[in-house]
Amino acid sequence: MNNPKMILVKHTAEFARQAADIFADTLRKKPDCLLGLATGTTPLPLYRELIARYRRGELDFSRARTANLDEYLGLAPNDVQSYSHFMNENLFDHINIKRENILLLNGMAKNAEAECRRYENTIHDWGGVDLQLLGIGQNGHIGFNEPADAFILQTHLIKLAEDTRRANAKLFKALHEVPTQALTLGCGTIFAARKILLLAAGQNKAEILARAFYGTVTPQVPASLLQLHPDVTIIADEQAGEEIRKHLLLEDRAM
Ligand code: PGA
Repeated sequence: MNNPKMILVKHTAEFARQAADIFADTLRKKPDCLLGLATGTTPLPLYRELIARYRRGELDFSRARTANLDEYLGLAPNDVQSYSHFMNENLFDHINIKRENILLLNGMAKNAEAECRRYENTIHDWGGVDLQLLGIGQNGHIGFNEPADAFILQTHLIKLAEDTRRANAKLFKALHEVPTQALTLGCGTIFAARKILLLAAGQNKAEILARAFYGTVTPQVPASLLQLHPDVTIIADEQAGEEIRKHLLLEDRAM
């Protein structure tokens, strides 16, 4: 079992700064790195910080590549609810990344299986993910790998859990508009990343974060697989870190 590096922060600015420092470090060491990116509300402060640093001339994405974690099935890249659109709006349109270096899953692919294979092959051809950014779902999902009886290793089509659809409805007008299926990077491909950065913010992530990193490794909590990864950093805000803090205190006392 490896110990993830836990960074518990008080303020959103610190949350964004710490996460951006890890991106900056990866880009400095390897300007043509492959960055695995995530959507959702959690990474938004990080993306704003990366844009600010790029504008100040501190970051250069001209040789970097990116691959996103997932995409809703049935949404076109220009659909405002698609993750392609989210990434353009919140990051890609504001930095000097080359379009040909951006890898996104096509939610309109006629053959989902072939699309998943294309994705896996491209990540492989690009040398694998150097830094994988992750959020965590309240049910412990990473990407859209929902709780299941086994870890699905490769990029695949998945039926979204109802609690995931309800959680994600915050970005839609109504629950019925949230797609029921998605394409997602598999747990194995996520695990193959050289470095993993998991971000968690808000009270509703406190319990699952502790369960994922202090509980049993099980596909019922997909993020728990990361306990076995040699290089994981977790950045949690005050609310999300609440339960983790209790475990850290116990560990301190035991030493
Ligand atoms: P959130 O989503 O950042 O919107 O909470 C995280 C996730 O579901 O992985």
